[in-house]
Amino acid sequence: MLGALLLLRHSKSVVPKVTGLARLMANFTQVSNPITGQSGWQERDDNYDYHLEVANAGFGDMLHDWERNQKYYKALKKTIANMREAGKKVHVLDIGTGTGILAMMALRAGADTVTACEAFMPMANCAQRILAANDASQVRLIRKRSTEIVMGVDMTQRANLLVAELLDTELIGEGAIGIYNHAHKELLTEDALCIPARANCYAQVVESSLAAQWNSLKLLANLDGDILLRPPKELQQCSGEAALHDVQLSQLPSNSFRCLTEPAEIFEFDFQRKQPRELKRQRAVKIQLQHAGNAELVFYWWQIALDDAGEVLLSCAPYWAHPELCQLQNTCQDNRRPLANLVPWRDHWMQAIYYLPQPVQLQLSDAHLWLNCCHDEYSLWFEAHKQLPTEKQVRRHTCSCDLHMTYSRSRIGQLNQGTRNKRYLSYLEQAIQPDKQQHVLLLGDGCLLGMASAALGAASVTCVEPHRFSRRLVDSVVKHNALKSVTFFEQLQQIPADQLGKLTHIFAEPYFLNSILPWDNFYFGTLILQLQQQQLSEQLQISPSGARIYALPVEFLDLHKIRAPVRNCEGFDLKLFDQMVQHSAEQALSLVEAQPLWEYPCRALTQPQQLLSVDFYNFGQEQMNHGHLKLEDAFGVCNGIALWVDWEIVKDSPKSVVSTGPSETIVPGQFVKWDMFVRQGVHFTNYTEKSAQLDWNTTFKPQLGELSFKFTLSPQHIKNA
Ligand SMILES: C[S@@+](CC[C@H](N)C(=O)[O-])C[C@H]1O[C@@H](n2cnc3c(N)ncnc32)[C@H](O)[C@@H]1O
Repeated sequence: MLGALLLLRHSKSVVPKVTGLARLMANFTQVSNPITGQSGWQERDDNYDYHLEVANAGFGDMLHDWERNQKYYKALKKTIANMREAGKKVHVLDIGTGTGILAMMALRAGADTVTACEAFMPMANCAQRILAANDASQVRLIRKRSTEIVMGVDMTQRANLLVAELLDTELIGEGAIGIYNHAHKELLTEDALCIPARANCYAQVVESSLAAQWNSLKLLANLDGDILLRPPKELQQCSGEAALHDVQLSQLPSNSFRCLTEPAEIFEFDFQRKQPRELKRQRAVKIQLQHAGNAELVFYWWQIALDDAGEVLLSCAPYWAHPELCQLQNTCQDNRRPLANLVPWRDHWMQAIYYLPQPVQLQLSDAHLWLNCCHDEYSLWFEAHKQLPTEKQVRRHTCSCDLHMTYSRSRIGQLNQGTRNKRYLSYLEQAIQPDKQQHVLLLGDGCLLGMASAALGAASVTCVEPHRFSRRLVDSVVKHNALKSVTFFEQLQQIPADQLGKLTHIFAEPYFLNSILPWDNFYFGTLILQLQQQQLSEQLQISPSGARIYALPVEFLDLHKIRAPVRNCEGFDLKLFDQMVQHSAEQALSLVEAQPLWEYPCRALTQPQQLLSVDFYNFGQEQMNHGHLKLEDAFGVCNGIALWVDWEIVKDSPKSVVSTGPSETIVPGQFVKWDMFVRQGVHFTNYTEKSAQLDWNTTFKPQLGELSFKFTLSPQHIKNA
């Protein structure tokens, strides 16, 4: 198995075509290199955007979702048989057919006619070929959005059975409300049935200081507990963004949250109803209190009844609220699977956290709370109250303090992370002493921790913040805490030479808004290289002084499925789909992708190994490294390689390391506990058999911003031969 990673990633496609040259299949796309910070034009295949869209469509994961596939098929068989028994002809419409899978199921289940429509052209073309390969060419395929179908032109008659899978984690985020309204008005008969027939949405009110960390900024205290930085009022009073935070809720450590209520049903969406859907979009639900506490957030999920009688149910509940947990426990064959992972795994529908705009402190004597549940055409939001709220329309809240609209949830969480902050602060407390006239330069976006150096008594703090909102946010913290001698610059080049010459310390966390993979933050090194072209003090201290990239071969319980071929789904051959995705992935996907690994359990197959070590005092040095890792037979199949960065705050001081990888010691054969406030890198091997050894090569050319890895797995039989 061979893989290569290039750090250049697609950013924004501008695509001026090169005409007159013999480059008919090429265009230029603007790409930005996160390590050098440079943007440039790169020649790309003409179909690059198309490949990117295909590769990222995420169909694979949904087609690996056996529960979804089986239940759709079961509901189709049952409904079509019932309709025929009632003497009806069955005319099926499949909206958003994708691979054509549901249309083929309907045909095989005995529908008289099947019409399928698909708006995404590459997918529609692929569906046409898949239908032919599965002897299902009778399915009439319309290459259009359902809302553009013209009755009498595209369809000869209205359908009396609609099958569709247009749902997302939020249920309605893909526009299901509008699509169903249109279908009932224009495309379906009066008595049409729908699969799924209904959806019920659930909310559970929760207290969780861990999850709240993803939403608001805490105080920053020094090692003795004295407060160094307080968040300004604007931040404390901000309602935050209403947007959902989609999460694999079952993976939250069970001691990290407290459910204050049982799950409550908040909305029912009836897909079969003829009248326009869900006109009443706000509902105050009275929920009984189970425990006292601070109502900070809402856990949300949904359940669908696929058939009209409500016998074929599919729930997206986390394990503790899953209606089939006991049954799944009794039938699970794998006794090594943790309880939280007994419920069917899927990444295309997760659960969501909604942060309440104003947390409500509840006593048991309150007995219940009122949850105001609201939605529009595409999304939901919530408010909690002790008393029945007025019927006044609740507006969707938005960020007014810059924090939520500037930073991702994981970055906000990282800014609050105690252990990480302590390590950086213990360095700053040692390094910065008020009587020593120290001059500190802060690099990185939103380097609030670095501002502690001003609170600790640095003579001056110079902060480079190119991003306007991030600068405004950090400036508000500076003003609120009355920090002295802090100056902001947009660019490094604007800092006067004499100010640079006085610097005693350069500090970063390091974090940059453009970073996706952990080592994208090596941009810190590029900035140091630029500074080293100026007259700097020889005593200048750089922190972090270095960074190391580590690799760990792992066996994922489930995550590898997002990139694994589907091959066959419920007896239908989908190899043509696999080929299309594979081809597009080769054109457009980086072979290492960023994933929040705490949400995706994996077992370590060995101890990790260092692939690269960079020294920020000498960042320009090119490196080519190689090595290998022996894999233990007993521990499992290497279906992924996890990669992360450890930042060395001070040279050769093992205690002053901040890791973006495992948060506990790795034990081969056991599950890895990952940092929950950063995404790690993952390379999927697509291996399904045990391997004996992993060979790796790393090439790092910092001046070009090039970092590439190659991984080769040797199969077991080579070792055994
Ligand atoms: C979640 S996928 C489901 C694919 C397939 N039905 C399945 O179950 O595997 C949804 C598909 O619907 C398509 N789609 C979404 N809205 C549509 C619409 N209004 N008309 C036609 N296609 C639509 C998308 O392009 C996508 O291919």
